[in-house]
Amino acid sequence: MSQIFVDACFRRPTPHTPIWMMRQAGRYLPEYMAIREKAGNFLNLCHAPEMACEVTIQPIDRLNVDAAILFSDILVIPNEMGMELEFIKGFGPKFPKTLKTQADLDALEVEHAADKLTYVYDTIKLVRKELAEDKALIGFTGSPWTLATYMIEGQGTKTYAIVKKKIATDPEYMHSLLAKLTHVIKQYLEKQIFAGANAVQIFDSWASALEEPAFFEFSWKYMLEIAEHIKAKYPHIPVLLFPKGVSGYLDKIAEMGGNFDVFCVDWSTPMELAKAKLGDTYVLQGNMEPTRLYSKEATKEGVEHIIDVMGTEGGHIFNLGHGMLPDLDPENAKYLVDTVHELTKR
Ligand code: CP3
Repeated sequence: MSQIFVDACFRRPTPHTPIWMMRQAGRYLPEYMAIREKAGNFLNLCHAPEMACEVTIQPIDRLNVDAAILFSDILVIPNEMGMELEFIKGFGPKFPKTLKTQADLDALEVEHAADKLTYVYDTIKLVRKELAEDKALIGFTGSPWTLATYMIEGQGTKTYAIVKKKIATDPEYMHSLLAKLTHVIKQYLEKQIFAGANAVQIFDSWASALEEPAFFEFSWKYMLEIAEHIKAKYPHIPVLLFPKGVSGYLDKIAEMGGNFDVFCVDWSTPMELAKAKLGDTYVLQGNMEPTRLYSKEATKEGVEHIIDVMGTEGGHIFNLGHGMLPDLDPENAKYLVDTVHELTKR
């Protein structure tokens, strides 16, 4: 059976524009909070396939989105490469011991890291069994650059001073780390596809930390290498790239090209601009500002504008321009999904 989401990724005709939301499984849903409580903490939840499966499917049941996204986190990769990981309530993720020396780099598990993520593949298998056939399951990874940033900084950062010092003083160290991550990620995505993922998205949340030449050298190049690897082996699996905050670099992105299917547009990039620069080459996903979901009026206005720009003839997947926020009202999320379906009915 065909899936509306996958069809849209390949510009095949669909009955309406598909929609899903980044972070659609999460704290704004009381049913998510109940399962997280049962699991004890976030990481336990990621490690427990049955519970992870349940929270993956929750937004489908409640919102009727067109795709599910695997419930996990980008940071399980460095964790299985040997780095201890904590999620601290009210603060976020933290690696207590960061990468500093050549010895730290040499100690990383590279060959078998993807094999160790069995709980992810088990979750995917369970979800694919339970999910309606016409709903796609999206697998994902962090980009090499975004993961490397966490591994070197140890946590979220406003200045990126530590990782950028590495770029300035020891670019070879960075490239060696990025190559290791790229190697693991290729295997990781292949294993997700083998387990049943119908599409894969690469999240480059820290893309905007880099000036233009550095972005292409330390991030985009590796994302394209991963996309190329997946497309060569699995041409039927859509690859979606989400470099956040790169609206100034779209000309260069268009010029470089690359073998992927969907360019994900963050909320700070006007959809008109993304369409003009990339819309003929790639299907665009995005990009409503998530805080519009605090009001139905603002949501409706946001939807109408984006549909005005992207039209209803294909080439577009509706999404937010970044993740759902924890205090949003699920009822407004349902309103968003219904509005998009209604306004884009062919
Ligand atoms: O619904 C989905 O989108 C699928 C699951 C998913 C999570 N994280 C669950 C999660 C996905 C795709 C991610 C990706 C992720 N994780 C990114 C890339 C996307 C982005 O947001 O830019 C990043 C940078 C991370 C790292 C991360 N994980 C941070 C910074 C945080 C803390 C911030 C926060 O929102 O609390 C997490 C924790 C996290 N990942 C939660 C969820 C549902 C919240 C954990 C909880 O307290 O229950």
